[in-house]
Amino acid sequence: MKRRPITQGVSWLGAVDWGRRLFDALIPLPDGTSYNAYLVEGAAKTALIDTVDPPFEAELFAQLDGVERIDYLVANHAEQDHAGSVGAVLDRFPEAVVLCTPKCKPMLVDELHIDAGRVRTVKDGETVDLGGRTLEFIHLPWVHWPETMVTWLPEDTLLFSCDLFGSHLAQSELFVQDEGRVYEPAKRYYAEIMMPFRKLIQKHLEKLAGREVSVICPSHGPLHRRPAFIVDAYRDWTSDTPRNLVAIPWISMHDSTRQMVDHLTAALAERGIAVERFDLAQTDIGRLAEALVDAATLVIGTPTVMTGAHPNVVYAAYLANALRPKARFGSVIGSYGWATRAVDQVADLVKGLKLELVAPVMIKGAPRAADFAALDALADGIAAKHRDAGLLPDPK
Ligand code: FEO
Repeated sequence: MKRRPITQGVSWLGAVDWGRRLFDALIPLPDGTSYNAYLVEGAAKTALIDTVDPPFEAELFAQLDGVERIDYLVANHAEQDHAGSVGAVLDRFPEAVVLCTPKCKPMLVDELHIDAGRVRTVKDGETVDLGGRTLEFIHLPWVHWPETMVTWLPEDTLLFSCDLFGSHLAQSELFVQDEGRVYEPAKRYYAEIMMPFRKLIQKHLEKLAGREVSVICPSHGPLHRRPAFIVDAYRDWTSDTPRNLVAIPWISMHDSTRQMVDHLTAALAERGIAVERFDLAQTDIGRLAEALVDAATLVIGTPTVMTGAHPNVVYAAYLANALRPKARFGSVIGSYGWATRAVDQVADLVKGLKLELVAPVMIKGAPRAADFAALDALADGIAAKHRDAGLLPDPK
């Protein structure tokens, strides 16, 4: 991709990574991603905001052909996908000074071996004058890591939002064209990157609320020319109220747990509760993360391996705990052959979520009529909790 204008004097640079399928050796990327950098040219000085993942360095330098001087290299975030080429840019532009938060500076030095003498820290609200254009730095910690900030360009009303409002989505267009197409990757991105810091993100949205933004320029995915689309979605996703939804990550070895999940799904549906199910033998874990953005209840379905939960369930429970979703209620269902401690184990793995436990159903062997009745009782219990929380209308 060539350099692409956003406004007169402000352009997108960077790379579209069509083929990447895994981020941080953890997060599936079904739609690829992009690494967005931005060039801001004032009458007196030029700034580059962020860089690219190092494998795309040559692409960035091709886009910088003809740029004589970079005065400021703004590092909104120290992670390698944005700061990984900072060192190479500093080598090519020896006059450039890195601007970043005080927390970011040692991270750039320790993780990327950037010369500390080339880095200047900026305070929250500090500005630099480029000549007819001003960059204002707004500290927004934990829009992924603790050192993050965003950069505001008031003359063009552009917000360079770092990972906030991003999406792992490779596309040929610069801007969002089809909001319906972008919504799911943006939600998945929020779930995986932002959800653990939901309460802070709520505050950040308020901090940014006074600005009339014309374009949100995130560090991944397409740019938002209608900021309300993504800001309203973030308000919804970060809200404290969950939906009338049960997320069921599950796996089955000899079909008993699968039968139980099927029965519980139908029982919940009969009671007016939506269900999203994720077979952990094959599911993309990002889809589970997305469901956890909204779900009021998490029910984990597991067979017993030796005496513990299935390893895929252990992984999913650990991840759910780390993502800190807003779910309020939880349960465990499943089966065992001779003995089990899976319920205690799973409850311990998700204890950070402080879920209110609704009667687990662990059965010996394949389910019988009494076991299906216990699952009906569990569905009743979940319905009562949802009703008490105001999520499910009273049937009368
Ligand atoms: Fe896109 Fe947290 O780096």
